[in-house]
Amino acid sequence: MNKKLALVNIGQLVTLAGSKRPRINKELGNLSIIEDAALICSGEKIEKVGKNADLCHEIDQDYFEIVDALGSVVTPGLVDAHTHLVFAGSREKEYEMKIEGKSYQEIATLGGGIRSTVRSTRDSSEEQLYLEARKHLHMLLANGTTTIEAKSGYGLSVVDELKILRIIQRLNSQEAVDIIATFLGAHEIPDEYRQDRKSYIDLIVNEMLPSVAEKKLASYCDIFCESHVFSIEESRYILSAAKQYGFGLRLHADQLTLSGGAKLAAELGAKTADHLEQIGSEEIALLKEAGVFALLLPGSVFHLGLKRYPPAREMIESGLAVVIATDFNPGSSPTPSLPMIMSLACTQMRMTPAEALTACTINAAYSLDKGDLVGSVEPGKLADLTIFDCKDYRQIPYFFGANLVKTVIKAGKIAYKC
Ligand code: NIG
Ligand code: FE
Repeated sequence: MNKKLALVNIGQLVTLAGSKRPRINKELGNLSIIEDAALICSGEKIEKVGKNADLCHEIDQDYFEIVDALGSVVTPGLVDAHTHLVFAGSREKEYEMKIEGKSYQEIATLGGGIRSTVRSTRDSSEEQLYLEARKHLHMLLANGTTTIEAKSGYGLSVVDELKILRIIQRLNSQEAVDIIATFLGAHEIPDEYRQDRKSYIDLIVNEMLPSVAEKKLASYCDIFCESHVFSIEESRYILSAAKQYGFGLRLHADQLTLSGGAKLAAELGAKTADHLEQIGSEEIALLKEAGVFALLLPGSVFHLGLKRYPPAREMIESGLAVVIATDFNPGSSPTPSLPMIMSLACTQMRMTPAEALTACTINAAYSLDKGDLVGSVEPGKLADLTIFDCKDYRQIPYFFGANLVKTVIKAGKIAYKC
C-alpha cells in the first residue's frame, strides 16, 4: 500500500492561502502563516492543513510516511517564472571583462554575449545539452524551486530551437520539477544573419513559430526587446504573429535602456513584462491598466554590476502584481537561487521578506497561469513544499547567499533532501 505523506511539527507553515488571484498592494505582505502546524497529503495533492495538535491524532505511522519538520519553516515550493535553463558552457571570461569596464552591450556587439552561448549550444549534441540542462534543473531544485518557466533562445535556428524545446519537454516529463516552456527565438540576431536581420525575423515568423505551435512545444513566446537587439517595430511584428498562433506573451523589456518594451507589453496584452529596470510612472500605469505582471530580475542587475534596480516599491504601491525570478542564464544572472533573489529584492528594491516570498510563490504561479495548482499551501493544490532549516521565514532572505533548504517535496513525494 502506498502510504500518504504527512508533515508534522512545522514551526511556521507559510501557506499564502487567500484570494484565487495574484496579490497586489498590501496583500503581498499577507502570508497566512499557521504556527505549530501539520499537513496531510493525498497522492499528489494537499488534503488537510491545520494545527499540529489538531491533526496529529489522524497521522498514524502505519498509514503515513511522516516527515518531522522539527520546528522549521515550510513554504510552498518556490516558483521561478523566468529562466534560460538550457544552454552549454559558461561566460566567466565576459564576467571578468565587465569587471574591468566593458559593458554588456559592448561585449554583445563584439560577437560575445548571447551569440557566444549560441555557438556552444549549437555545438552540443542533444544528449550533452540534456545532461547539462538537467544539472541546472537540479541546482534550482536544491534551492527550493518546484515549478519553473524555461525559455529556448540559445539555438536561433529552426533545428536548434526545436532541439532546446524538446529537451525542456523531456525534462518536464522525466524530472520532478514542473516546467512551462517559452519560445525565445527572438533572443538575438545570430551570426549568419547579421547583415540581413529581416530574413532572420521572417524565419522566426514563417518557420519557427508555426513549427513550435504545431508541435505544441511552448506555451509562451518571448523577445529581447532592446535597442541593440530587437526594435519596438520588430518586436510588435513578431509578437503579433505569436499571438495569432495562440502563444501567451512575455517580453524582456526596458532592461538596459528605456526603449518602449513595457508600453508594447501593455499594448499587446502580454502576460508579463520582465526586467523593467528603466521604467517610470507612465509605464507603470499602462502595465496596471492592461493587467500585465511586472516580473523583476534583480540578479541580473547585481551580476552585471549595475546600479539601477526596478522601482518595485512604486510598482507595488501602484497595484501591479509583482513577481521576482532568477533569470538563470550564463550571461547576466547565473544564479539558481530564489532565496538569493529574495535577499536582493529586500535590500536593493526595499521589498519586505513577506512581499518577496509572495512574489516568488503565488504571484509567480499566476504569472504562468498555474495559480490554481501551485504557489500556495491549500487543500486541493499540488503538495509542493520546501522545508527550510530556520525558525522564521524572514531568515530565508536574511542569510543571504546561504542555502537553508533541507527538503523539497514535489507532488507529494520527496524530490530533494540535503
Ligand atoms: O534576461 N536579456 C536577455 N537575456 C538574458 C541574458 C542572456 C545572456 O546574456 O545570455 C537576460 O538578462
Ligand atoms: Fe532573461
